[in-house]
Amino acid sequence: MAKIFPSLLSADFLNLNEELSNLEAAGVDGVHFDVMDGQFVPNISIGIPVLEAVRRGTSLPIDVHLMIESPEKYIELFAESGADMISVHVEATPHIHRVIQQIKNAKKKAGVVINPGTPVETILPVIDMVDYVLVMTVNPGFGGQAFIESTLTKLKQLSSVKSANNLTFDIEVDGGINDKTVEKVIENGATMLVAGSYFFGHQNYDDAVKQLRG
Ligand code: DX5
Ligand code: ZN
Repeated sequence: MAKIFPSLLSADFLNLNEELSNLEAAGVDGVHFDVMDGQFVPNISIGIPVLEAVRRGTSLPIDVHLMIESPEKYIELFAESGADMISVHVEATPHIHRVIQQIKNAKKKAGVVINPGTPVETILPVIDMVDYVLVMTVNPGFGGQAFIESTLTKLKQLSSVKSANNLTFDIEVDGGINDKTVEKVIENGATMLVAGSYFFGHQNYDDAVKQLRG
């Protein structure tokens, strides 16, 4: 069964503590925490102080998605501030191998991310180092965008690489995941679902979990 990680970007920031309790009660597998720097992506979101607050508010695993340039400068800081899992974009650094080592040295789960326009081949040299691969199913920067269908081919390709090499990394998808797109991403190998606007659009988070679990 695919794991569900609601993206806090669409949560009610004025009531984060309550949001976190409701997520725990609904049985989600963790929370997804989007960091944007206004450079790598054309938007600015949340960072260290909010991560520390979320850490105090939940024991759920926190999956930090770094949409920032020069991620190597900030790995230790995010690790110390409450992240359990940290993912970095292959497009954001010329030193992806070193950054993944940094995450592992900090004893956190390491993920590598590819944008919709980035081929799977770019991450093959580090594929056996990571705990998860995040395939962006929208262009990063904003919640509420439409799912990009061409990413399904990349999911399929990644699943073949995974089984051909007996690897166990999770395949995470992020962007435009809802009751209409969930089935096709799972069919093509997704094992971790990030959902923002769709998930938090529900009054009752049990319903959101039920819809995504099918
Ligand atoms: C977008 C972020 C996503 C975002 C997804 O750049 O990485 O995590 O919150 O939002 P939805 O699920 O609304 O597409
Ligand atoms: Zn994200």
